[in-house]
Amino acid sequence: MADAEIGLIGLGVMGSNLALNIAEKGNRIAVFNRTASKTHEFHQDAGPLRDRIVPCDTIEALAAAIRPPRPVIIMVQAGAAVDEQIAHLRGVLSANDIMIDAGNANFRDTMRRFGELEGSGLTFIGMGVSGGEEGARHGPSIMVGGAEASWKRVEKVLTAIAAKYEGEPCAAWLGPDGAGHFVKTIHNGIEYADMQMIAEIYGILRDGLGMAPKEIGQVFARWNEGRLDSYLIEITARVLEADDPETGKPMVDMILDRAGQKGTGKWSVIEAQQLGVPATTIEAAVAARVLSSLKDERVAAQAVYGGGVAPFPGGRDEVLADLELALFAGKVAAYAQGFAVMAEASRAFGWNLPLPTIAKIWRAGCIIRSQFLGTLAKAFSGGPVANLLMTPAFVQMMQEANPALRRIVARSAEAGLPVPALSSALGYFDSYRLGRGTSNLIQAQRDFFGAHGFERIDSSGAHHGPWGSGA
Ligand code: ATR
Repeated sequence: MADAEIGLIGLGVMGSNLALNIAEKGNRIAVFNRTASKTHEFHQDAGPLRDRIVPCDTIEALAAAIRPPRPVIIMVQAGAAVDEQIAHLRGVLSANDIMIDAGNANFRDTMRRFGELEGSGLTFIGMGVSGGEEGARHGPSIMVGGAEASWKRVEKVLTAIAAKYEGEPCAAWLGPDGAGHFVKTIHNGIEYADMQMIAEIYGILRDGLGMAPKEIGQVFARWNEGRLDSYLIEITARVLEADDPETGKPMVDMILDRAGQKGTGKWSVIEAQQLGVPATTIEAAVAARVLSSLKDERVAAQAVYGGGVAPFPGGRDEVLADLELALFAGKVAAYAQGFAVMAEASRAFGWNLPLPTIAKIWRAGCIIRSQFLGTLAKAFSGGPVANLLMTPAFVQMMQEANPALRRIVARSAEAGLPVPALSSALGYFDSYRLGRGTSNLIQAQRDFFGAHGFERIDSSGAHHGPWGSGA
């Protein structure tokens, strides 16, 4: 009987949690997984939600179980598996049915899929979902791209399962085709920057100030009551306070310092570069993960250069106050970069991305959720601005916070502590606020070796310098 509201393909970690969330909100959901045993296990284990779940052994059965027009969420491994599911669904679904790719797709794949489905009568949605397993189960942040009419048809169920911030659902239609997956990619780039800067501050507290994990955890817990209030700061405090059940030592000290990545951070940097938007703090954060993976080389280099760290100068209270402000200033720079990338993508792809709405749907559910995003949404709601750094509220905050970032970066450099993301945030800020930069010299060099020409400050047109015969 075709009485399910919606269908879902792919009962991995994200898919099964999303399906339970959908069922819990009162919807009947048909589910299918490539490995059929997982479908039945999932159904068996669904407890009181069992009656709302229709386990299906084939995609044909799944389609037959949903009430038309049929929305089907695809939550399989990003890449070829999504194309396989779309190809199969094309043969089974009919006009006006909606395929929703909720995986971590590269937005360029999403754009391609929109193109391939054009004229098929089927509609497609590219949907970014953030919040990990917990978010998927109890309320993720949902970033939707596709035709607005398709969104209208799934809005009710998606807003019901999304996280709520003061009652407002953290789900929104953001624009056509790849808009949702693009915004999710930039979310992840910002997430990398947030995490890396927190890790750099942890490094200063650990190696520069010689503090123990639990003490550091208490510092983060205190900061979580102030301007840095956010999920990532909260979990950092909790991580630092945990002990390893096997050894009784602080858990964080037992974890190898080699970070993994699935690629979305890298995509955000590639797209920033493609769009010609500087996103140096996000770039530094992605590079830091890559560098962290070179564990053996780093150990060998320490033997050659010495990994010694000089004591961090300054009194502890003064340094702690500076670190809190420095992290905040770094965060402002990273978000300014991420939002500048989205503003440019919006122009380049004709998406008309609603920046204040994006900030609002990130206030809950997703990994970078924070109070800060509420302030950011307000700053953008006054209309288009060139950069977050130019909104009055952030001008004031950066004027207060940037001297601390400067002191922390300078002292870290002297002490030998790596702070690549924080120092790139400072470099970005200082370059952005420098009315007269140094690219006049770059232009002269380019003209010298390649006769590229330059503009003069006192007359228009292209000019060349008196370099003689050139390079
Ligand atoms: P997890 O989310 O548990 O880490 P995953 O490997 O990312 O798992 O896979 C997520 C989902 O994608 C699973 O439902 C998986 O199906 P199986 O349980 O049969 O492995 C699904 N999946 C991966 N590749 C697929 C493909 N080519 N076709 C269909 N489903 C696929």
